[in-house]
Amino acid sequence: MTAAPAAAPTFDKGLANTIAAETQMSFIDGGKGVLEYVGIDIDSLARNSTFEETVFLLWNRRLPTAIELSALEQDIRAEYDLPAEVWQMLRETPRTAHPMHMLRTLVSALGMFDKDADTNTPEANRAKSIKLLAKTPTIIANFDRHRKGKPMVKPDPTVGLAANFLWMLNGAVPTAAVAKALDVCLILHADHGLNASTFAARVTIATLSDMYSAITTAIGTLKGPLHGGANEEVMHMLNEIGTMDNIEPYIRAKLARKELVMGFGHRVYKALDPRAGYLKTFAKQIATDTGNERLYEMSTKIEDLMRAEVAAKGIYPNVDFYSATTYHSIGIDLDLFTTIFAMSRISGWTGHCMEQLDGNRLIRPGASYVGPHGVAYVPASKR
Ligand code: ACO
Repeated sequence: MTAAPAAAPTFDKGLANTIAAETQMSFIDGGKGVLEYVGIDIDSLARNSTFEETVFLLWNRRLPTAIELSALEQDIRAEYDLPAEVWQMLRETPRTAHPMHMLRTLVSALGMFDKDADTNTPEANRAKSIKLLAKTPTIIANFDRHRKGKPMVKPDPTVGLAANFLWMLNGAVPTAAVAKALDVCLILHADHGLNASTFAARVTIATLSDMYSAITTAIGTLKGPLHGGANEEVMHMLNEIGTMDNIEPYIRAKLARKELVMGFGHRVYKALDPRAGYLKTFAKQIATDTGNERLYEMSTKIEDLMRAEVAAKGIYPNVDFYSATTYHSIGIDLDLFTTIFAMSRISGWTGHCMEQLDGNRLIRPGASYVGPHGVAYVPASKR
């Protein structure tokens, strides 16, 4: 029997109309502005869940029992600390490095100290996922301390991931409200279908490379300003605008020059990004509690103006827009914003890698060659 001829491939720039994977983790309805993790609405998770519980949900495609949740929390806390060599690498990292370059490099380095790095069994990959999730906050927080000339702070295995990160970052126990604010941000950023960095992670793991390589790939992809780097750009923009009076001329001039206003627009959502909706309410609360009302007011004024100008094109605030106000209010430096996104999205990336390996097929699209044919080779001496 001969194989059925494959359908003729079609060129789809940006792959916007291509389905390249099946997933049971997150569902997005971009037209209606819906995001669900394993069928549960994101708003409900943000209000009721914790980041660790959301990680269990994404990895196991169901909510945990109390015993299962406690076991996962303990497994993660047991992995907060870094290998001695990675602490040393942190100390030797250039203080001027961008945190995303630093994170990509040190997450990659973790693979050299894991004897199971190249074992692709489900058990080994779950263990690596826990290590990656647990150690990333330690790397980010202590890099920030290192570059500021402060002594390193060891992780606190008695608290959850968000509180532990803030403890290391500031060398002080965070208030419950601030730890909760970060925890909610981590829930909201955990997974989002086949976004660019998740796709990159799946491409890497699909070659049967390893989890550390896949997450390194994903961090490099997230870094771009059209993806996770946008939250940092939003904060730069807010700083550049400076005053309420400057908002209108600044935004209008940007739109007239056909420049992008960062934190707006989304490949999938042509309605309000549901994460942005929740974050807006949350940003207001945390900004008020921390004396950053002006930043919040500036953000809402920009949103109103953008709604009047470009909502008809389906351009609304995305998750990065109100993340900027929230992270700033929590006291996180603006160049760390995208690393916080990575800290959360590692849950989604690793979950997708495990899903990809369960029924794996190499991901290898084609390219449409548009160059010349039959060109004669000319020796260098004759060019
Ligand atoms: N500001 C102003 N105009 C915009 C914006 C924006 N942020 N985003 C899209 N538009 C305009 C485009 O210029 C285009 O206009 P035109 O039809 O007159 O040419 C129209 O809206 C359609 O935009 P596309 O470029 O086709 O949208 P695409 O799906 O390719 O891009 C993207 C989506 C990359 C997110 C884009 O909206 C963007 O660059 N936004 C700013 C960066 C950003 O905030 N990224 C974070 C995304 S969320 C995340 O990754 C977590």
